[in-house]
Amino acid sequence: MFFIPPILQQPPVSLHLDLRASGKSVSPSLFGLMTEEINYSYDGGLYAELVRNRAFLDDRRRAAHWAAVGEGSSISLEQIGPDAARPTSLNVQGGVANEGYWGIPVHPHALYRLSIIASAESGGPITASIESPDGRVVYAQCRMGGLGKDWRKLTSSLRTAGDCKTTKDARLVLRTGAGQTVHFAQVSLFPETFLRRPNGNRPDLMEMLASMKPQFLRFPGGNYLEGNRVADRFPWKQTLGPIETRPGHPSPWGYRSSDGMGLLEFLQWSEDMGAKPVLAVFAGYALNGEVVKAGPGLDTYVQEALDEIEYVIGGPETTWGKRRAADGHPKPFPLECVEVGNEDGFDKSGSYEGRFVQFYDAIKAKYPNLKVIATTGGQDWLGAKFPLSRRKPDLVDEHYYASDWDMMAMASKYDTYDRKGPEVFVGEWASQGLGDPWTGREKKGPMPDMASAVADAAFMTGLERNSDIVKMACYAPLLVNLNPGGRQWAVNLIGYDALSTVGSPSYLAQKLFMTTVGDHTVAMSLSNVPNQTDGNRALPGVFASATRDSKHKLVYIKLVNALSSDQTIEFEIQGASVQSNGSTTTLHGAPRAVNALNQPLIVVPEVKHLTGLGSMFRQIIPALSVTVLTLHCDR
Ligand code: AHR
Repeated sequence: MFFIPPILQQPPVSLHLDLRASGKSVSPSLFGLMTEEINYSYDGGLYAELVRNRAFLDDRRRAAHWAAVGEGSSISLEQIGPDAARPTSLNVQGGVANEGYWGIPVHPHALYRLSIIASAESGGPITASIESPDGRVVYAQCRMGGLGKDWRKLTSSLRTAGDCKTTKDARLVLRTGAGQTVHFAQVSLFPETFLRRPNGNRPDLMEMLASMKPQFLRFPGGNYLEGNRVADRFPWKQTLGPIETRPGHPSPWGYRSSDGMGLLEFLQWSEDMGAKPVLAVFAGYALNGEVVKAGPGLDTYVQEALDEIEYVIGGPETTWGKRRAADGHPKPFPLECVEVGNEDGFDKSGSYEGRFVQFYDAIKAKYPNLKVIATTGGQDWLGAKFPLSRRKPDLVDEHYYASDWDMMAMASKYDTYDRKGPEVFVGEWASQGLGDPWTGREKKGPMPDMASAVADAAFMTGLERNSDIVKMACYAPLLVNLNPGGRQWAVNLIGYDALSTVGSPSYLAQKLFMTTVGDHTVAMSLSNVPNQTDGNRALPGVFASATRDSKHKLVYIKLVNALSSDQTIEFEIQGASVQSNGSTTTLHGAPRAVNALNQPLIVVPEVKHLTGLGSMFRQIIPALSVTVLTLHCDR
């Protein structure tokens, strides 16, 4: 007979809940999503366009991502096109291939919509095919006639067969007739999109995002709003209308944006997830330090912002509301918050206060019900306090990128936060692994591991407990293309390639928390919590928060165990009778456990149905875990 040593466990933690008091109301907009063009989030990501460099504007000297195909074929760029938005064309004699964004996805019964803008001396048809890189396997093909000497837009569709294999090793090839030269000003290929929206999004990513039940979408950035130069700010006006009217613009993340994901697409994306838009407007500060100071010189930018807001919420009688209706969305969008700039604490010229006042006054004068967000929160991180003494913002946006340890330390940050100031929007935050988030970037990520997910969840318990002051929060960055060269930021929530997607442990933890937010907090006390230590410092090893969903008589208890041992929790619940059945959903794993495209199920939620619950019971939460315990109560 073997001697089985007892598992060394910490003494139980006591968790006491009192359901008699009504608790603080939980912000109905507490958790949302933040997005910008980074890591090929839209082009090569959510935005479903499959042709890379569709308008030949990525590089004026060469046809990047295009290559001649077949003996005797030739291609060349020419600075001639139909108009100012399409000033360049690709001359093709023979065949040309586009490599897509690290491949073109192929699967059985796939339907693609191809559109081209082209001209040719002779009108012979061209052949379009989606085929293997060596051209031996043709997955789908069509012929397009109707070319002429003038620029024409032609469309067609391609469909794969039912027995076609699933692969991303494919390219789009266009072949001209013998001896024919065709000038292409745009080539676009779309697969089926979420809700079949034209110019729409990838269904698999949209499903992942919508399943988080985000309450809002913060867009268009982030640094992407600001641009490297003022001239490179998010050009919302030129992102409207048919794609051939959108020239695109340089993004601060090292590649050109097609602007296929334009203002209307952002708004529809939020609508399709049941989320409200949070619109960030350019406020006169660019990343290179260029500043448009407050005063008459800023008026143009204030007007640009007012027009943009009008596009989002103006009635059909307004100039920009009418334009939105003409673009296909007569109904105004449910905009409640406008953010003035992004991270203006970095503007060391001290101009933000004046700029903010100018935007604030103009926005409030026209739209008194809109909440105006200032971006100089996050005093701890930016190392400076900006008084904004002349106007009180409705919310301040604070950003926190921190090591796992520092993020866990911030779980208690808002417990003692000054309630007299503006409300808080944590508009970007993420645990970034070990050590300082800015160093060793190449060794971090691309997505958070289990240890970071635990730190993220610990921080979220603090957001939820303090949702009387923290009204909104969203993680960043949201998306990353996992191909080599696809990533600019170290740690990102959701990864993908042309064919597949993967949710990080932190994505799963956030989804779990975001789908179990009650309407009121429940008074809670924890005792006997063991500490964790990094050798020098100590923090609690267990984090928790509790809310109730009054309508469905549910209580959600969020439990985060950052310890390397399982932990028993003794629950005592007062003020309501607890039904004997309930459930837990738990994520746990080794600290470095990650999900990857080829191993997406390393960390997965485990659901357990519980019986025997009541006013007192015990549960064991695993080492390094995130759990939501759901109780059914009589009130
Ligand atoms: O999320 C990545 C970047 O971090 C954002 O663009 C910027 O706002 C922040 O500095």
